[in-house]
Parts: sequence; C-alpha cells; structure tokens
Amino acid sequence: MAVLSGFVYMIFAACHLNSAISSDASDQKKSETVLISILVRNKAHTLPYFLTYLEKLDYPKDRISLWIRSDHNQDNSIEIVEKWLTEYGHKYHSVHKVLDKQSPPKIEGEQGLAHWPKSRYHHVIPLRESALHTARYMWADYIWVLDCDVFITNSTTLRDLIAKNLPIVAPALRSDGLYSNFWCGMSSEYYYMRTEEYGPILNRKKRGCFTVPMVHSSVLINLRSAASDGLTYDPQALKGYQGPFDDIITFARSANMSGINMTVCNDVIYGYVMVPLERGDLLYYDLLQLKNLKLEVLINGPPLEVDPLLEKYVQEATEPPLQIDKIFMINLKRRPDRRVRMLNSFKELRLDVETMDAVDGR
Ligand SMILES: *[C@@H]1O[C@H](CO)[C@@H](O)[C@H](O)[C@H]1NC(C)=O
Ligand SMILES: *[C@@H]1O[C@H](CO)[C@@H](O)[C@H](O)[C@H]1NC(C)=O
Ligand SMILES: *[C@@H]1O[C@H](CO)[C@@H](O)[C@H](O)[C@H]1NC(C)=O
Repeated sequence: MAVLSGFVYMIFAACHLNSAISSDASDQKKSETVLISILVRNKAHTLPYFLTYLEKLDYPKDRISLWIRSDHNQDNSIEIVEKWLTEYGHKYHSVHKVLDKQSPPKIEGEQGLAHWPKSRYHHVIPLRESALHTARYMWADYIWVLDCDVFITNSTTLRDLIAKNLPIVAPALRSDGLYSNFWCGMSSEYYYMRTEEYGPILNRKKRGCFTVPMVHSSVLINLRSAASDGLTYDPQALKGYQGPFDDIITFARSANMSGINMTVCNDVIYGYVMVPLERGDLLYYDLLQLKNLKLEVLINGPPLEVDPLLEKYVQEATEPPLQIDKIFMINLKRRPDRRVRMLNSFKELRLDVETMDAVDGR
C-alpha cells in the first residue's frame, strides 16, 4: 500500500512538473513584428473608416510599427492622420512619419487626381522602396503594404494572414463592382489580363488561397524568407526587368523572378476596397463610390464604423432629394435580417421611409 501510494504520488509530481513547464511564461512566443506602410494622398474621405479599422485590429500594437507618408494633398488628409496619431500613436512600437504640408497639391505633369504621368511613379516608387528598406533595417518579420482606401473590417485579418505562413499574401477585398486587389492573369506586356478564374474567386464560388500573378493594395510580405531580399518596387533596381515603369508591376515581377509566389485568400471576408478613380474623375465622384461601397458592405454585415474621434471628418455625397412624396417598405416580421439591412441602407441614402409589417399570405 505504501509502495502504491508512493507510485501514485510520483505520477502526480511528474504531471505537475510538466504543466509547470508548459505554462511557464518564458516558453511563450511574442507575436511576429510587423511594419505597416501607409501612403496617404487625398484620402480625407476614406481615412476615418480606414483608421478606425486599423485601430480595431486585434494584433498587439506593441508589435506593430507604423510608417506613414503624406504629401501633395488638396484636402485635409494630414490633419486627420495627425489627429488619429495624437490619440493612438503611442500604442504602437514606433511611428515613422513624414507629413508634408508644404508640398503643392499637384505633382509636376499631373492632370487630375487619377492621372498617372511618369513623374508620379517617380514620386511613389522611392516611397515604397523606403518603406521596404525601413522594415528590413529594423528586422521586422513582416511588412504590410496597405492602401488607405482599404477597409479591413475583419479584426483578426493580420493574425490570420500571418498564420498562413506564406511569403506574400493578400486578403481578397470586395468592392462594389468587379474590381479587386488581385489579378488572375498577366499579359506578355505585364498588364492586367482577363481570365476565367477571376470571377469565381472574386465571388467566392471557389474559396481558399490561390497563387496569382498580382496582388496589391493590401499585401503582407514575409521578410524572414531569404528570397524576399530580391523584392523591389523599383524598375531600375530589378536586373533584367523590361516591363512598364510601375511600382506594383515591378514588385510582382520581382517576386516572380525571386521564385516567390503571390497568394490571395478569400476563405473569409476580410474587408473592402474602393474602385480606383478613372482619369478625369473628380474627388466628389469618390464620395459617391464610397456611398456605394457602404451599401455593399451592408449585404454581408453591419455598417462601416467610424471611431468617435474621427466622426467630424466623415463626408457625405449630397445628392438632390428624390421627387417622391412618400416611401414605404413592406417587410415580413420574420425576416428581421432583411429589415435591418434595408433600414441601414435607407439611413445611408438619407431616405425617410415608413416601414409596414407584411402579412404572410399563408
Ligand atoms: C474573420 O475571420 C475569422 C477567422 O478567419 C473568421 O472566423 C470570422 O468569421 C471572420 N469574421 C467575419 C465578420 O467575417
Ligand atoms: C513566374 O511567371 C511565369 C510566367 O508567367 C510562371 O510560369 C511561373 O510559375 C512564375 N513563377 C512564380 C514563382 O511565380
Ligand atoms: C507556387 O505555387 C504553385 C501553384 O500553387 C505551386 O505548385 C508551387 O509549388 C509554389 N511554389 C513555391 C516555391 O511555393
């Protein structure tokens, strides 16, 4: 009996020891370090949403550095970024910013917001390279190159993408059209090419992660892979490159030439992206597009959110009122999901609508 109880005691002791080891804080790994690079230009209308969702990411902020550049604005983009940084900047590991209020609203040779003369690429490419260099220099594990007309509504996105353990990965972003932040085909001149695969991935008829020739606008790059040293946005830095003078195309080619796959994932809904303006479009048109996108968001979930701090910067596209005396909505009470979505849509559209309960014919 004495022997048996001694034996039992030893097992307990062993178990106890084990659990003591596995719960030891020294055994827990810290999250990977990430530099998020953000270029801001004329985005005062999207920034309140963009920054709200950036802040809502559930990733530990002391493992994130922010790299922000803003110049050549014709709106109050910088004011909004400054306001947000004053409130939240200290939570991050570090903030590297150059917010240039002195630069003129136009880059030389530019005709309009969506016009991309060579001078504009000459401006953007060194900025993108500089972010990449900063991330490498600080030995960041990852750089997340994120545009500020992207709304990452799923707060687990950064953790999820890192967990996929891929060299270059982008969350498939939804827009209010056929546009997204990935291509399934690239022409021999390295431009966008329509393919059969694109639609089913865009519409999530096929779900998962897919190797594609191009991702942009929200790109997570693993800098711990040795091959990532070959990645660049600069055509002049890429030996053997013969494509257009373009940052994202150069980057895609540098990945290919380094033997690195680009991957896009649509396994869950990660977020949304604005359709870029066409040449000749005015900033006001982007406000209308933003409204459309906000209606699109309502199909899958709650309305886009804005941090109270930034509410005063939200802009509205004002349109002439509809010439209609009265609008009614008829809705079955047993479909509260549809009712909520419609009420949110009316709110977004500033429509005054009276709701009536429908009667089920049965
Ligand atoms: C966000 O992503 C997580 C994990 O990938 C998923 O479980 C969750 O459903 C997503 N949330 C939304 C609102 O789509
Ligand atoms: C590089 O591009 C070629 C031609 O499009 C393709 O066949 C190859 O699979 C690509 N390699 C990588 C690593 O992306
Ligand atoms: C790149 O993706 C292709 C297609 O998914 C796959 O067959 C190949 O093994 C991948 N290459 C690397 C280096 O991961």
